[in-house]
Amino acid sequence: MKSIKVGLLGIGTVGSGTFNVLKRNQQEIAARAGRGIEITMVADLNVERARELTNGEVEVVSDANLVINNPDIDIVIELIGGYGIAKDLVLKAIANGKHVVTANKALIATHGNEIFKAAQEKGVIVAFEAAVAGGIPIIKALREGLTANRIEWIAGIINGTTNFILSEMRDKGLDFDVVLKEAQRLGYAEADPTFDIEGVDAAHKLTIMAAIAFGIPVQFAKAHVEGITSLQATDIRYAEQLGYRIKLLGIAKRTAAGVELRVHPTLVPASRLIANVEGAMNAVLVRGDAVGETLYYGKGAGSEPTASAVIADLVDITRLATADPEHRVPHLAFQPDAMTDIQILPMSEITTSYYLRMRVTDETGVLADVTRILADSLISISAMLQKEPAEGETRTDIIMLTHQTQEKNVEAAIAKIEALATVVGAVTKIRLEELN
Ligand code: HSE
Repeated sequence: MKSIKVGLLGIGTVGSGTFNVLKRNQQEIAARAGRGIEITMVADLNVERARELTNGEVEVVSDANLVINNPDIDIVIELIGGYGIAKDLVLKAIANGKHVVTANKALIATHGNEIFKAAQEKGVIVAFEAAVAGGIPIIKALREGLTANRIEWIAGIINGTTNFILSEMRDKGLDFDVVLKEAQRLGYAEADPTFDIEGVDAAHKLTIMAAIAFGIPVQFAKAHVEGITSLQATDIRYAEQLGYRIKLLGIAKRTAAGVELRVHPTLVPASRLIANVEGAMNAVLVRGDAVGETLYYGKGAGSEPTASAVIADLVDITRLATADPEHRVPHLAFQPDAMTDIQILPMSEITTSYYLRMRVTDETGVLADVTRILADSLISISAMLQKEPAEGETRTDIIMLTHQTQEKNVEAAIAKIEALATVVGAVTKIRLEELN
């Protein structure tokens, strides 16, 4: 059978990895797919570099439209990124009857509903394994491997840059700004790291996983997005003394009232496997009602790890291209007419535990005042840490961990605590998940 022809839009880190792995493992890949898979055309603005990267073996053009309009191309790989040009090209490729593979999490998390609808109408596949957690086959696991389960929750370390920064802050006791600069110098963080450090990249990936897990549309705009920029080394230290690590988690949880969809720094018991995921590695913990907890770990970025996911999608499409579209795996795991629009809960309605740090004047009755406010707000304390004031100091830190409560209760209690004359400045609040 003749090989399937692939056109590549954008040949940077992931694109060149895809070209190389596809070539290196072509025999095994063809043996698995049932026919050869061949990149025959590449579009990139830097034509010269693209020719070098592909050893002059494929046609290179600067205009992506030449790829998506080429009748010989069966599958288009979109590795341009962003929501502008990439969205137009993906929709045009679909309209031209091409299958699409993309690593573009921003595009799928924000425009996925429109893209999947267009693909369904045209009978083509849009595959996006590489969009979430790089080389970890988490989309495949959620969509197919765990298909028997009612997924209860997902908790993931799905941004390597921030996990690297948090690991360094903990190991070296350094503040965020210092570690960020070092991460940029070493190439772990981009020159403009905003999407990573503000939690946006993690929220894109979480949005996609939540849609597949719960059969809901992708709705990035409703996710709570909080990064690590205001996290202090002090809190990492205190958390450690209480037996916890702080991780930037993406959490999607099904509750009776709706779905929680949130990215924020989170205390996790140090004894959990996921708490020990260090450096730029990714991990996703999934709880299904039948299987219990399963954990997926690996490289969430990089040339060949991400290429591994792109090529897995190419093989899937190659196998399924001739199947009746009705009998393919649905884009978001659930049949399009069986999706539900369960509401995404506002943050005030989420339920979790909390780490609270406050700076107080060390005098009689301060603790009593604080605990009275918490008790009146029906917030139960699970652990507490108070340091002796440093030599010559009259102020000290009190750290409290709470049992589970609603966010709105904690917000109300914090406002009252901050109004006490003995409490100095703002109360630091970090959410805590036991993950059991
Ligand atoms: N910038 C991401 C990370 C990888 O740091 O994990 C691509 O999503």
